[in-house]
Amino acid sequence: MIPKKVKEELRVRSIRNGSVIDHITAGNALNVLKILDITGTTKAIVSVAMNVPSKRLPFGRKDIVKIEDRELIPAEVDKIALIAPQATINIIRDYEVVQKNSVVLPNVITHVVRCPNLNCISNSTEPVYSKFSVLNSFMLRCNYCETIIDSDIAAYLI
Ligand code: CTP
Ligand code: ZN
Repeated sequence: MIPKKVKEELRVRSIRNGSVIDHITAGNALNVLKILDITGTTKAIVSVAMNVPSKRLPFGRKDIVKIEDRELIPAEVDKIALIAPQATINIIRDYEVVQKNSVVLPNVITHVVRCPNLNCISNSTEPVYSKFSVLNSFMLRCNYCETIIDSDIAAYLI
């Protein structure tokens, strides 16, 4: 039996092994799942908490994603920086946090967001993956046609 006090504190249980993506900008948990290619057919055990109170994040709210038995690699983590610049990635082994990293904005992202310019070669039938230079956390520039995305990056996620 878990004591009542502990029950009140547990929102999502601790995991034994895997990754915890914490301090996600509220409203972006599902975008994080999308970036990690986690869909409804996943076999992984995934917990999602939305709008959890947080002292650090804007509006005092954050989202959390816990993925069991999967350790995220840096290339996956860096994509998360685009939509959740304050996220921390915790790697858990045998219930202990063995690694805690902030996300780092990548310089270039390939095949993560689609170009808003419908005439861009990355939107054609040519076998060309979209490629954007990351100018800062809210501005991307297409490497092919130079179109800028400067708002709602999440809306363009592939
Ligand atoms: N966590 C988990 N399972 C574990 C250990 C930790 O799900 N076995 C989760 C915690 O719930 C928390 C995150 O991983 O969301 C980071 O854990 P921890 O570093 O212990 O928490 P804090 O000190 O609050 O982290 P921070 O300093 O990054 O805010
Ligand atoms: Zn383009």
